[in-house]
Amino acid sequence: MNYRPLGNTGLKVSEVALGCWPIAGITSPGTSEAESIATVQACFELGINHLDTAYMYGRSGESERLIARALGTRRDEMVIATKCGLHLDSQGHQTHDARPETLRRQCEESLRRLATDRVELLYLHAADRRTPVGESASELRRLMEEGKTLAVGASNLDVRQLEEFTEACPLTAFQPAYNMLVRDIEGDALPWCRERGVAVLVYWPLMKGLLAGKIARDRRFGPDDSRRHYPAFRGEELQRNLDLVDRLRAVAEAAGHSVTELVVNWTIHQPGITAALCGAKRPEQIRESAGGSGWELTAEQAAQIEEALRLRGPANAVAN
Ligand SMILES: NC(=O)c1ccc[n+]([C@@H]2O[C@H](COP(=O)([O-])OP(=O)(O)OC[C@H]3O[C@@H](n4cnc5c(N)ncnc54)[C@H](OP(=O)(O)O)[C@@H]3O)[C@@H](O)[C@H]2O)c1
Repeated sequence: MNYRPLGNTGLKVSEVALGCWPIAGITSPGTSEAESIATVQACFELGINHLDTAYMYGRSGESERLIARALGTRRDEMVIATKCGLHLDSQGHQTHDARPETLRRQCEESLRRLATDRVELLYLHAADRRTPVGESASELRRLMEEGKTLAVGASNLDVRQLEEFTEACPLTAFQPAYNMLVRDIEGDALPWCRERGVAVLVYWPLMKGLLAGKIARDRRFGPDDSRRHYPAFRGEELQRNLDLVDRLRAVAEAAGHSVTELVVNWTIHQPGITAALCGAKRPEQIRESAGGSGWELTAEQAAQIEEALRLRGPANAVAN
């Protein structure tokens, strides 16, 4: 496992980190508490030292609670990031509320669930249209000054919002969606972060499992599987994405790796990317993703991947 600086905190994070959304069990059916705990604990043997969670992950914070149980006395070996500003309402709908008082309450609740007195990184999960980004950022700055977090990050903001954020609070990390099919940040937010030394930790590196190469062409997603709502998993888009996966598999196999390893490797080697937040709900999944670290693509393999992406063409993965 290789490690990269987390902005200017002095900490280093593994370039493959564990994304702790699937262990919350909401949209990724088929989780069990024992497997979720084993997934977090597998990180120790894999050299993964960064866990990404959020106040919102789980109907009542299951992700954060499971992390606390899994780490036990080894909490200090992990760089823990959590997020505030989004929650699930009583109907289970994702709700934006980034008012200062909400951020403070959620942060304090997250610390209790995580059984810790501070996290290393606290993100604004998303902007809230009714609250100026600067107001949310100012509260995160106060929480940092009070020692509740070592550093502050922001997720799901555009460059204008990132500018506004940094006027109110030093920004250590940015967390956008990014993978072979979702590359919007390459034109603006990624160079913006690179110029300022802001770490970029990306979510959906496997496009919710699509790029892990185990989705069958005739796969039907059940009503409790949120993937059925994304264009990437439907109709012609799905078939074209699976054509891409087939081409990637050929490159991966010739290189002695799995598609997952190839995709994670490609992601963490894109300029400006600090780490891939790889979601997993079973130990073998995060073990495979961790295998994306520690090796380099040859120039020929990189060219073959670019050709596969060119043949795929522009993707419409997340929005209709
Ligand atoms: N800031 C934000 O707004 C935001 C939003 C989303 C996510 N995140 C963070 O980013 C992390 C990653 O996102 P994600 O978990 O949604 O997506 P992801 O990492 O792209 O995909 C994870 C899913 O892929 C499948 N998978 C993983 N490894 C696999 C393997 N080796 N073989 C086959 N399937 C495999 C599993 O689903 P199945 O087994 O069910 O197929 C798993 O739940 C999250 O956990 C969270 O920490 C942040």
